[in-house]
Amino acid sequence: MTAGDAAAVPAGRGPAGIVVACSGPSPTAAPRPADAMADQGARDRHVVLVGLMGVGKSTVGRRLAKELARPFADVDEQVELRAGLVIPRLFEERGEEAFRTLEAEVLADLLDRPEPLVVAAGGGAVTRAENRARLRAARAVVVWLQASPAFLAARTDPTHRPLLAGDDPAGALARLLAERRPLYEEVADLAVDVEPFHQGDEKPKRALARHIAALVTGTPVASP
Ligand code: S3P
Repeated sequence: MTAGDAAAVPAGRGPAGIVVACSGPSPTAAPRPADAMADQGARDRHVVLVGLMGVGKSTVGRRLAKELARPFADVDEQVELRAGLVIPRLFEERGEEAFRTLEAEVLADLLDRPEPLVVAAGGGAVTRAENRARLRAARAVVVWLQASPAFLAARTDPTHRPLLAGDDPAGALARLLAERRPLYEEVADLAVDVEPFHQGDEKPKRALARHIAALVTGTPVASP
């Protein structure tokens, strides 16, 4: 979908409903003021960041929580606390399915919290249908942070990511994106391409956080 297309689609979830909040470096590329989100009571909703590993969900999420003056929760961190193991050890000792089960429990608990949070989901949280159903049903604005596999591979530390542990992290990210794109599309209310922010701003994470905050609160949106 291009920025031009995005202006024509209604807000809401599903492939046809994603609002591409920033799809290119052009200063005119922010296609849709997000008053639609504000109209839906976005101020009272959780904001959940989804997207592939390394796209900046945790760092942007922390800043976004400050912008919105609300608590931040990182699903990976909560999983590690519950398991008493860091994620690579958890994969190694108990396997990916055990990790996914804990991830689903943590996500469900966070989405059930009455106070609006900013939540950074793990990149693979969308792979379980139960998580996608919860994300769709929750009072939540789901924001899909997007970037190309090459961009992500250049910025992601594979040592903490068991799924990138092989000798071709860029190839692994490309495969994951191909598998997961429809799943992110299924849950996302908004999609934000992060790459233009990294090209155009000295503090891209702060700029991204402000951009997303503006989108979800319905204030005028500045492009990178
Ligand atoms: C995973 C992403 C990781 C972490 C785990 C699995 C995935 O989270 O949950 O290594 O399947 O994409 P980040 O996206 O925060 O790196």
